[in-house]
Amino acid sequence: MVRNICCIGAGYVGGPSMAVIADKCLDIEVNVVDIDLKRAELWNSEDLANLPVYEPGLDSVIERCRGRNLFFSTNIAKNIEKADIIFISVNTPTKNNGVGAGQASDLKWIEECARQIAKYASGHTIIVEKSTVPVRTAQTIKTILEYHIDDLSENIPKTFSVLSNPEFLAEGSAINDLNFPDRVLIGGDEKESIEVLARIYEKWVDPSKIIRTKIWSSELSKLTANAFLAQRISSINSIAALCEKTEADIVEVVEAIGSDKRIGKNFLLSGPGFGGSCFQKDLLNLIYIAKSYGLTQVADYWQAVLDLNNWQKNRISELIVKNLFGTVSGKKIAIFGFAFKANTNDTRQSPSILICNNLITEGAKLFIYDPKVAELNISNELNSDEQKTINNNGCWIKSNDPLDACLNADAIIFLTPWDEFKSFPFNKIYKLMRKPAWIFDARNCIDIELVREIGFNVWRIGS
Ligand code: UDX
Repeated sequence: MVRNICCIGAGYVGGPSMAVIADKCLDIEVNVVDIDLKRAELWNSEDLANLPVYEPGLDSVIERCRGRNLFFSTNIAKNIEKADIIFISVNTPTKNNGVGAGQASDLKWIEECARQIAKYASGHTIIVEKSTVPVRTAQTIKTILEYHIDDLSENIPKTFSVLSNPEFLAEGSAINDLNFPDRVLIGGDEKESIEVLARIYEKWVDPSKIIRTKIWSSELSKLTANAFLAQRISSINSIAALCEKTEADIVEVVEAIGSDKRIGKNFLLSGPGFGGSCFQKDLLNLIYIAKSYGLTQVADYWQAVLDLNNWQKNRISELIVKNLFGTVSGKKIAIFGFAFKANTNDTRQSPSILICNNLITEGAKLFIYDPKVAELNISNELNSDEQKTINNNGCWIKSNDPLDACLNADAIIFLTPWDEFKSFPFNKIYKLMRKPAWIFDARNCIDIELVREIGFNVWRIGS
């Protein structure tokens, strides 16, 4: 009988997924712990607008559960000790140096979790990998734990069971995805532990949607799901580029191919390329694994999906410069949207980062407006070592007012499809801008006919 859950890592996965478990399981106490005190404090902030993760609907779940059966803290040891189940939801970024740099995931946080669990757990504990991890990570966790199996806590030997239960939520729709998942995947070697976890999900998920597999199949399925989704985006973006050269239109092509049930309409929006914390990292992981088993052709196949994504971002900044008479030096450009997708404040791997940096390198002055992204996030991304460029006097500032961002600007570039962009006062905006005034809609997110009638020069993805 599970009474107590601990989740290590209070990020985009740990926070929302534990909030929903607490919401659905009133009889279970859920403790989310993190080494970052500031982050834990933000989860506990009175003002729900200050939560460290922005997700539609998350604030009301937190309001209902926090202090009742959901708690955020930095008290890792105590909460590990109390737990019947421990979820590992720490980040596994791509390694920057050493063996596998640029491709393999850095598992130092996972390893650290395993060591802490080995040290503080008591009695029998089920450990659940929630973070996306390279195939066979569970073995690393098991190996560390095995060294501690004979340790005693209150004269009871410590025992462990490791499960893989990857999270498929997409940011921006996390609460809905958690409440109504397409499937819940549980991989493991011990049937009993799998059933303990399955019973928790069965409190709100139809049992037929709970898939049980071997642990390695579960780990590989998560990488494969993301690789397939990323592949769809690169595929459609490659066709969008072809549409721009011919008289085809990507919106019509998607309508035509999407109505074939085998292809389907979802996840075929062309744009500036995929971003987010998962797709690039998981593709790199898959490529690394394939290479390490000598499967060069398999690695090259998935590498092409990533290459096309990077090409797409560079292609967009290049065509902006070309259309603005071949130079953006000293020109003011309004960037609308910096998050990697709408309805999130997450900027990790956002296509906006490379596009903005390319324009800054060309000497542009960017006024960046995003309804949810904080200035600090933008500066961490644009000023990171990886992105730092010699900028030809280009620069950026965060703008809190879209009209101000457009004043005397030469162009507006839509990079994130926020809903509010659709109802912007384009008549008024046009009058504020320097002429010829350009709109580059890389997300197909505004009414192009309308702005064209007003007088804008327009480029839209895939047309
Ligand atoms: C993804 C997976 O969807 C999720 O199952 C997994 O658990 C984590 O990775 P996420 O990164 O949150 O989720 O967002 P997703 O909605 O998948 O979008 C990823 C990127 O693809 C975004 O940059 C988005 O703008 C882009 N995208 C998505 C497109 O360009 N076109 C589309 O049709 C869909």
